[in-house]
Amino acid sequence: MALSAADKTNVKEFWAKLGENTSVYGTEALLRTFLSFPATKTYFSRFDLSIGSPQIRTHGRKVAEALTLAVSRMDDLPEALLSLSDLHAHKLKVDPINFKYLSHCLLVTLARHHPGNFNPEVHASLDKFLSYVSSVLTSKYR
Ligand code: HEM
Repeated sequence: MALSAADKTNVKEFWAKLGENTSVYGTEALLRTFLSFPATKTYFSRFDLSIGSPQIRTHGRKVAEALTLAVSRMDDLPEALLSLSDLHAHKLKVDPINFKYLSHCLLVTLARHHPGNFNPEVHASLDKFLSYVSSVLTSKYR
């Protein structure tokens, strides 16, 4: 999945504008995933699904930190996310559909908080970036 030079620039410039808020957005996006797609049963389903839930907040922060790493390692993403890819496939066995739901909810969350910066070009680049991250994180399933 090739990200063009323009995609990489769009993603990097947009991400830089998020500042200290990436964890907040990661948490909101994760919570939206479970509330907007309630039929999905995951490890998190057994916990309180609210913004105050420690499990949601912890994974939301970890997702945000991993995405920040991914933004800085777009040229060697499979290597950068190798251990996370193993973790989600072999240990956690996360159903791959959840990555699509979470990516969608990340886009919604980012658009909601940064409407002025979320133009169609940035939207397309972020979508490609999140698809790339998801494809790496689900690459170990077979
Ligand atoms: C963009 C997508 C995702 C990223 C970047 C990501 C990142 C991470 C990171 C960094 C960790 C912590 C690893 C560690 O502590 O060593 C983690 C753990 C975990 N992830 Fe993900 N993840 C993603 C998607 C998902 C999805 C869709 C699910 C399931 C709905 C999921 C379920 C889990 C679980 C159950 C854990 C272990 C418990 C926890 O840390 O809260 N992840 N993930």
